[in-house]
Amino acid sequence: MTALGVALIRVRETARPDRLYADPLAGVFLAAARPGFDADRWGRLEKLAEQFYEGRTLAVKAVDEHIREVAASDCPQIVLLGAGLDTRAFRLDLPPETTFFEVDLPELFDFKESVLDAHRAHPICARRVVAADLCGDWERVLLARGFRADLPTAWVDEGVLGYVPRAAAYAVAETVTRLSAPGSRFGMGRFQIAAAAPQYRALRELVLEAPGEPPVNGLGPDGESWFAAHGWKTTFHAWDDLVEPYGRPGVMGGDPAVGHVVAVRG
Ligand SMILES: C[S@@+](CC[C@H](N)C(=O)[O-])C[C@H]1O[C@@H](n2cnc3c(N)ncnc32)[C@H](O)[C@@H]1O
Repeated sequence: MTALGVALIRVRETARPDRLYADPLAGVFLAAARPGFDADRWGRLEKLAEQFYEGRTLAVKAVDEHIREVAASDCPQIVLLGAGLDTRAFRLDLPPETTFFEVDLPELFDFKESVLDAHRAHPICARRVVAADLCGDWERVLLARGFRADLPTAWVDEGVLGYVPRAAAYAVAETVTRLSAPGSRFGMGRFQIAAAAPQYRALRELVLEAPGEPPVNGLGPDGESWFAAHGWKTTFHAWDDLVEPYGRPGVMGGDPAVGHVVAVRG
């Protein structure tokens, strides 16, 4: 559900004449998924995607730029944690020597790979599907798919650790640290989510179908200091500075403490 929600956001951005990026495959995924939904659930998904669109689409653009930059410099491996219906291995002009690992749940790839195959889509760089649960032994599957711990890696969490219970999120951070050669990077957000706000409650209702109290997930406020204490050097980039070049001033948050932290392995 959440992967489809972000695909809806990328479809909307792709349709804009002043688009920040184009993701033609996002519409292909949506067309394939739509018949499996009743009108009510699909309508709720569209409404939520609309509510999150402005900020999330800028975040997609910022991650695009981050991946381009690291792939062009010193990270031949990119690992997308919770890759969802991401198609950067198909749509970004990455160096052909880049290896792009996509980690997500097996059921996500059952859908994604069948749609990509039917569409005869070809990635620009080497792409490896890592069908595994981040709460389980995903390290074994990643290594079996050809990941090399001796090469610098850019790890991207674009919205998955928020769905992973806190202890499991720190287990992911430990695995990432163990597998990271010097020069590797890990990006994480620094912001507070108003988990009780109506749009987050609606998101939980749609995804979990039993909202209850907001779960304690992700790395939480101590993520940055955890990485700093485990051999990573962290640098903070304010959200408003990151998105200012994209020319959508209405989305500026005005809080200099909100932004993105990049940790580099020493
Ligand atoms: C909000 S979506 C983001 C997808 C993608 N990063 C994007 O921005 O389009 C979250 C993704 O995390 C995946 N996910 C959730 N829990 C997971 C877990 N325990 N292990 C692996 N993937 C998981 C979901 O299947 C979904 O694709």
